[in-house]
Amino acid sequence: MILSRRSFSKTLVALPVAARAQATLPRARIKVDTERVISDIDPKLYGNFIEHLGRCIDGGLFQEGSRLSDANGFRRDVLDAAKKLGIGILRWPGGNFSSNYHWNDGIGPRDQRPPRLEMAWGTVESNRFGTHEFLQYAEMMGTAPYICANLGTGSWEEAQQWVEYCNSPEDTAMTRLRKQNGRRDPWKVGYWGLGNEMDGPWQMGHRSADDYGKFALEAAKLMKWTDPTIKLIAAGSSNFGPGSDWTGWNRTVLDYLKHHADYLSLHMYVGNRENDFGEFLAISLSLAERIRTAEGIIRAALSGEPRDRRIYIAWDEWNVWYRARGNAERGRRILEERYNLEDALVVATFLNTFVNHSHIVKIANLAQLVNVIAPIFTNDDGLFLQTIYYPLQLFAAHTRGKALELFVDSPKYTSKQLGDVPFLDTSAAYNNGTLVLNVVNRSRDQAITAEIEAEDKQFGGDVAITEVNGPDIKAENDFGSVKVRPVERAAQAQGKKLVLTFAPHSYSVVRAKLA
Ligand code: AHR
Repeated sequence: MILSRRSFSKTLVALPVAARAQATLPRARIKVDTERVISDIDPKLYGNFIEHLGRCIDGGLFQEGSRLSDANGFRRDVLDAAKKLGIGILRWPGGNFSSNYHWNDGIGPRDQRPPRLEMAWGTVESNRFGTHEFLQYAEMMGTAPYICANLGTGSWEEAQQWVEYCNSPEDTAMTRLRKQNGRRDPWKVGYWGLGNEMDGPWQMGHRSADDYGKFALEAAKLMKWTDPTIKLIAAGSSNFGPGSDWTGWNRTVLDYLKHHADYLSLHMYVGNRENDFGEFLAISLSLAERIRTAEGIIRAALSGEPRDRRIYIAWDEWNVWYRARGNAERGRRILEERYNLEDALVVATFLNTFVNHSHIVKIANLAQLVNVIAPIFTNDDGLFLQTIYYPLQLFAAHTRGKALELFVDSPKYTSKQLGDVPFLDTSAAYNNGTLVLNVVNRSRDQAITAEIEAEDKQFGGDVAITEVNGPDIKAENDFGSVKVRPVERAAQAQGKKLVLTFAPHSYSVVRAKLA
């Protein structure tokens, strides 16, 4: 009752406590019109990220000598679980790590690669997983690779030569090296990052917005002159802290890069430090606000440019991350966040938000894939799926095609930080005659019934619902213990109306034929 007692909207304020505890929330109404299209949903919204950090790559997806790995050292069980996430784009090698990564160290015979001090996370980088391993892994996953260049301690030339090594069909010293290392044809890596979080003082090679803009522009020119088909992702601001200049950084950087960048990279990590379920579940509202603000900044930067000059948002790091954090987080077993049900619900609300802004957000990468703030958690004998795995999997499996703008009238509660918050958080897609509706019920203790009305079509019979839920909001999964999981149920709907009840603290994906 923590949330409902304190924060139900005005209608309940006058009720005595006992009555409030039993009061049921009013029905929600959701109207669906398949002509109210927001955008095509880019499959790259279901992106992910692997960094040389803790046990994400080394000891996570890559474990040479393990009985669970193939001859190249790739963990088969991890690859299977990762493939089921339907990942549309995979970012590598960092993160903060990218700002001290020299790609030349990670090519050639593995045993001859130099170990280097790694200063982002305080370890030694073996370099046994490098460009060839990453691109082979992306091929095995069937996902688009996205490489983040080192604009921290790296040079323009180094970034340019990485593009040449990976993408050039010409006969050059770089491409001879690639062939000598076993890859004849270029990989044609389509997405390249112009550094990572360059606005943060924690970043190696941190610069002012002007200095970064000038430096990144020269790198961008060289990279695009090497391969004009590549898409470039400029480092936007990830620094929301007091005194930070989030909007100013983004605007300045775009002024330098507006003719070269195709995406603006933004990051957001959230947590429940106050242990307040209602506040935590409301955070996606601030994500939406940031997306709208960034969209405005992009529009302002592009005003006066030709209409076909577009810059989209790449929200290329996002997740719940607050427990495994802090100065002690250097070394080997780091950032190993364990997720519970409320975290999975927040992840679902973030995915709803990306789908609802899919006209401008075209890439989104959960950070990260394995062990490090991740949906897949391993030990030497196997793995288990964390709670956040399920919304990621279900969105990628079903929420495809066209994103729809819904009319939603949901009962609300009041958040201290964010004002009115609808209990039901939603997104929808229309895909080959099927309506896909994602619904998070943010109420901790009350089921909410929704009348879902088809405006321009009729429901055609069977309705499939998959619900992610668990015994309580703090329930976690572990090796040999699955408390939070998806459960299937079915319903029927004919004509204009479908009535469904969404359980407390649940995420559901509904699939209904419309004709
Ligand atoms: O994903 C973990 C870290 O978070 C990344 O290395 C960095 O980009 C961000 O601050």
